[in-house]
Amino acid sequence: MICNKSDIDNLHDNGFILLKNVLESSQIEKIKKIIISNPEGKGVPENIYSTSFKSFLMKSIKVEFKKIINSLYFLHLKNQLKLDSYTSTFFNQKSKISQIDGYHNQKQESEILPWHCDQSYSGAKIVKKIKSPDDFGLKFFFYLTNVGPGNGCTSYIPGSHKIAYAVRSCMYEKKIEYQPYWSINDFVNLVNKKKYYPLIVDKLDSQEILNEFLQKAQNVILNKKTDLFDFSALPGDVLIFNEGGFHKGSKPTKNRRVVLRYIYKKILK
Ligand SMILES: [Fe+2]
Repeated sequence: MICNKSDIDNLHDNGFILLKNVLESSQIEKIKKIIISNPEGKGVPENIYSTSFKSFLMKSIKVEFKKIINSLYFLHLKNQLKLDSYTSTFFNQKSKISQIDGYHNQKQESEILPWHCDQSYSGAKIVKKIKSPDDFGLKFFFYLTNVGPGNGCTSYIPGSHKIAYAVRSCMYEKKIEYQPYWSINDFVNLVNKKKYYPLIVDKLDSQEILNEFLQKAQNVILNKKTDLFDFSALPGDVLIFNEGGFHKGSKPTKNRRVVLRYIYKKILK
C-alpha cells in the first residue's frame, strides 16, 4: 500500500481517506472465508486476532491452532501492506497495533451503529480519569463486500475529528467538565453550551470550523435518512480514519457486510 503525502494530508484535514483496490481477489476470498466462519457481529471474542506474544501463548495453551494460523496470516498481511510504516508517518512517530478483528453483519434494516465518536468512554455517565487527547486510534476498515450509500458504508463527517480533539483537550486541561459525548446529539449539546463554546473556538483557533461542523451535525441529526456523508466501496478497498471523528455504520440493506479491521495507536510517553 503506497503511502503518499496527499493521503496523509487528507487524513489530517478530513479525518478519513478511501483507498481503492488495495487487496487482491485471492486475499479478499481468503479473508472473507476466515471472517464468516466466526459468529456474526462486532465485539465477539472469536472475531479478535492475536497481536501480542501473551495472546499467542494463551491460544497455544488452549490449543486454538486455527486461530493462531489466522492471526499470523493477518499479521503477515499488515506487514505486506506496510501498515506500520503508514501509521508511523501519519502520527509522525512510532505507533503500535492495538487490535486486529474482523466481523460480519447480515443484511438488515437497522444501523450497525448510529453517529458517534470513539475515545468517548462509550458514553459513561461518570469518568474518573480523563485520558490524553492524543490517545486515539487510526482505523483501517478493509471491505470484503460491496458497501454504498445506505448499504453498510462507514459514513464520516469530514473535519469532525478536529472538534472532538479540541473538546478532549479542553477536558484533559480541566477547562470543560466531563459529560457524556459518545452520541452526536450529546456532543452537539456539549459544544453549544454557552460557557464551553468560546473555549472550543479558542482551542480550534477558528469559529468557522466549529460552526461548519455544527451545521453538518444538525443536518444528520434532523435528517436521519441523509446519505450526504456516505460513499461507495468495493471488496478490497480500505477506509482509513481517525476514530475521534463522528462516524456511523450504516444499514447493510442490500447485502451482507464483511470487514477486516486494524487499529493502531500512537505510543504515548
Ligand atoms: Fe466507532
